[in-house]
Amino acid sequence: MKSRLLCAGFMLAAMACHEKSDDKTPGTEPPALSLAGSYKDLFTLGVALKSEALTGPDVPLITSNFNRITAEYEMKWAPLMKGKAYDFTAADTLADFAEDHGMFLTGHTLIWHIDTPDWVFTDEAGLEVDRETLRARMKTHIETTMKHFKGRVDNWDVVNEVLADEDGLTWRASRFYKIYGNEDYIIDAFRFAHEADPEVELWYNDYVLENPKKLEKLLVLIKRLKAEGIPLTGVGFQGHYSLGWPGTDLIENAFNAVIAEGLKVKVSELDVTVYSDYPNGVFTPEVAKPCDANILNLQAQRYGELFQLFRRYKGQLAHVTMWGLKDNGSWLNDMVKGRADCPLLFDAKGQPKPAYFKALP
Ligand code: XIL
Repeated sequence: MKSRLLCAGFMLAAMACHEKSDDKTPGTEPPALSLAGSYKDLFTLGVALKSEALTGPDVPLITSNFNRITAEYEMKWAPLMKGKAYDFTAADTLADFAEDHGMFLTGHTLIWHIDTPDWVFTDEAGLEVDRETLRARMKTHIETTMKHFKGRVDNWDVVNEVLADEDGLTWRASRFYKIYGNEDYIIDAFRFAHEADPEVELWYNDYVLENPKKLEKLLVLIKRLKAEGIPLTGVGFQGHYSLGWPGTDLIENAFNAVIAEGLKVKVSELDVTVYSDYPNGVFTPEVAKPCDANILNLQAQRYGELFQLFRRYKGQLAHVTMWGLKDNGSWLNDMVKGRADCPLLFDAKGQPKPAYFKALP
């Protein structure tokens, strides 16, 4: 690993360095300020990116603040394919960048109900395939992808979002689930992944696991994986949070439940929307509002309390990854048409927001 502690030559980080500096001696180097550098003894600090970001003006912002990359899109099943052939070009750009800059790389994600090519589930006539055909296709995909990135990816989100949101239902009724007739495809995916790369870390990744009802389902999954002898490393909490939910007590409760199973946790997709779109648990999008000073300060407090909590999990919380670099690039801007969000640590100009400074220890 190269050092992530560089501020010099980078105006924003240098400015931020001065903000935190206690050393007022003229002419001395400001102490290093970098999110990843600040947390290097606790957890790695990641950012989800698309390959297009790696040749633009944001490179110094990325390399000075983060020591891990997750492919936001380009390592998912559909974007890895050109027709039915693999094309790793875009994903390799991310892997090369990580290697060139001494950064870690998270593999995201092998089995997901979204961004899987339609042909995976169908035959030449367009009819749904049987369980054995799907199983064989999953095996090929997992093997091919994991062997390609072997030694470059240190942890894989093997399976993403397979728990149901509905009360009384444990498993998401995805096409994988329907074709298999049960949840055994999850076990198969982990088994194929372990066979493809016995050294790499295997993670389960999902959202709203802080909700005690969904947490119950997670524990069912964990126990099942353990009973099947799967060497699961841990659980990724996506961390798509809002200003008010989930409370840190709920996050803590969920982390503790996973850790009590002998597993690690990571925060895999952190952002804090300024909208409250689930006032009664049902998606009811709030109208657009400006990201004014008041909102940005509330968000900063929220980031502050979240990172305060994260700091308490030394040795148990492995990674914290931001789901995007700058507000204007966030996936949340696409959630509700015509509505801009500002959920990240840097604004559209790449300036650190109040939240950035509160996220620092
Ligand atoms: C999103 C990306 O941000 C988008 O760019 C992409 O088009 C769709 O997926 N949960 C996940 C992520 O696990 O992979 C999703 O990322 C966001 C929700």
